[in-house]
Amino acid sequence: MTKRRILVTSALPYANGPIHLGHLVEYIQTDIWVRFQKLRGNNCRYFCADDTHGTAIMISARNSGVTETQWIERVSGEHQSDFARFGIEFDHYGSTHSSTNRQLCGEFWKSLMDSDLVVERQVEQLFDVQANTFLADRFVKGTCPACQRTDQAGDNCECGHTYSPTDLIDPISVHSGTRPELRSAKHLFVQLEQLHEFLEEWTQEGGHLQTETANYLKGHFLHEELRDWDVSRPGPYFGFEIPDSPGNYWYVWFDAPIGYVATTKQWCEQTGEDFELWWKDDSTEVHHFIGKDITYFHTLFWPGMLKVAGFNLPTKVHIHGFLNVNGKKMAKRDFTFIKAATYLNHLDPEFLRYYYAAKLGPRLDDLDLNFEEFVAKVNSDLVGKIVNLASRSAKFVRDTGLSKLYPDDGGLFQKGSEAGEAIAAAYEDCDYNKAMRLILELADRANPFVENAEPWNLRKDDSKAQQLQDVCTVAINLFRQIVIYISPVLPGLASKTSELLGDEPYAWADAQKPITGTVVHPFKHMLKRADPKDIEKMTDETKAEFEAANPDGPQSESGGNSTFQDSDEHLIAEPLAEEITIDDFAKVDLRVARVIKAEEVPDARKLLKLTVSLGGDTTRQLFAGIKKAYQPENLVGRLVVIVANLKPRQMRFGLSEGMVTAAGPGGEDVFVLGVDEGAAPGQRVH
Ligand code: MSP
Ligand code: ZN
Repeated sequence: MTKRRILVTSALPYANGPIHLGHLVEYIQTDIWVRFQKLRGNNCRYFCADDTHGTAIMISARNSGVTETQWIERVSGEHQSDFARFGIEFDHYGSTHSSTNRQLCGEFWKSLMDSDLVVERQVEQLFDVQANTFLADRFVKGTCPACQRTDQAGDNCECGHTYSPTDLIDPISVHSGTRPELRSAKHLFVQLEQLHEFLEEWTQEGGHLQTETANYLKGHFLHEELRDWDVSRPGPYFGFEIPDSPGNYWYVWFDAPIGYVATTKQWCEQTGEDFELWWKDDSTEVHHFIGKDITYFHTLFWPGMLKVAGFNLPTKVHIHGFLNVNGKKMAKRDFTFIKAATYLNHLDPEFLRYYYAAKLGPRLDDLDLNFEEFVAKVNSDLVGKIVNLASRSAKFVRDTGLSKLYPDDGGLFQKGSEAGEAIAAAYEDCDYNKAMRLILELADRANPFVENAEPWNLRKDDSKAQQLQDVCTVAINLFRQIVIYISPVLPGLASKTSELLGDEPYAWADAQKPITGTVVHPFKHMLKRADPKDIEKMTDETKAEFEAANPDGPQSESGGNSTFQDSDEHLIAEPLAEEITIDDFAKVDLRVARVIKAEEVPDARKLLKLTVSLGGDTTRQLFAGIKKAYQPENLVGRLVVIVANLKPRQMRFGLSEGMVTAAGPGGEDVFVLGVDEGAAPGQRVH
């Protein structure tokens, strides 16, 4: 078999936040594929880098009082450490903010210019004067022009309406909370339509994309004229300034994928490899792994850019779905937005690698991380079925080593060898779920063999020493074969196994031949059971992180950019009362009531006489000091909250049978507490 030269990438993570369990779907998926290719003996290399440009990073750096370069260096360090601890091994990890990348961007740009693909146009965009930056759609909020809902995103509303942020009523910048102004600036566009024919062919033929993706592109983009792509941003912008276009910068999505090439180039410079061979030679395969959210960039713009600049086109773009946690989209307020670093404080990274492998197929479906299933799967498959094979046999051959000849095992090892090609094909197709099932079938055959042979009983009888050694030789070989097959997923288990057996690092072919006569080193613990308590601790830590970042509660999730700026004068004027118990609170019977009558009280300057209903025939008469603030007719029909068990009090104007609740200092500034329509009179307020 000839060695394939394979260049593999994962999407470059944004340098504005930590790696979380969602990201890891992709990096683990890719790492497994790369390890598999290396295990097969292919010349495979894995490249990645931090994606460092754009306004988000500019603002994050500013908010933390550091320069952008300091910011991206710190984040890059954190990302690389998280990846390494999850066993994700790059051949080189770069940064899009490198001189190599700047130079390559210039090269791609020149090709686009030389091919007359670039045009100039004025663009109107909202500008945040205070933060001194143009605002991408997601950094603007405002009132929907269609339904008047407030606090809607810059490009679409909950009502389903989509619009441009310049259409919003009362737009607000999320950076500063101020009203942005409309500014016009020059932008540079790539006329993608000129590459239509090429893209049509590349996306629809040659198996570069999963069928669902090819169909999606055809139905959503390629069926009509391709829109020009806006590849520049006016300064201030953290990025590379465009040569011959002072004050304009390449849009982050222009320089980011070029980062794949730049990272390879840096690696070539460090190792003496031939860069031309890796990116400009047909014999090299290029495989990109990405999530479905960034399909557009990798399947239209990127192949277009590569084509024009004369680089290798991707052999395949492998696209995966999104991670849900316990059946729902990851969300900070549900504490399911779990950081890689937080996971590592409590759980073994190999658990997650295995769980994702068992869940990942070749299609774009989303996958669900269900913690109950996670614990059950790790414990039953990894500990119960795989590691158990070694832990029940290795100790009995400590002194003797393995048998000199491979004993009769009823064809089990042979069956395992034969399964190798099907398992390899499943890995190759990114059908890890299938690969895991095939591997577990081997374990399901091996375990009954050990159970029937009962090595723990054989060892009690000296005359059965040979039989014991033979049984353990079989068990350990079946275990070793499984470990080799699963080693792309569990590199840690693989290295512990090769240590136990004094093996070299594994190659795929090692699973084809049993080992005999070798020493077995002391059995060290290979994998702990997953403990649900550790999941709980991880969730608690995630919750604590969230609460520390959002001291005012979940409303301000957007992170300190709250547009509500209420004064603390009232809290100072009237500090919070002494703590009470829930029983103390329960003594006050607050009820929903409907105002059925509201009348002026002659001679009383401040009072209105209210008749409220608690439902049925039960009514109460109350006097409330709200005359300056409310017209009686405006109160009738409203739902209010009353203190229903207050001792009745005889007043000059009549009996007051309770109290209506209200806030404010008095006079015109009184605000009756209302309840949303839907509540019913008589309901208790808790
Ligand atoms: N910086 C861009 C990629 C530029 S590539 C030239 C980016 N960065 S990202 O940090 O937002 O995402 C990195 C990768 O992680 C993307 O492929 C994205 O799809 C993937 N994921 C991020 N969150 C994810 C989930 N919740 N689930 C699965 N994958 C997810 O996009
Ligand atoms: Zn709307």
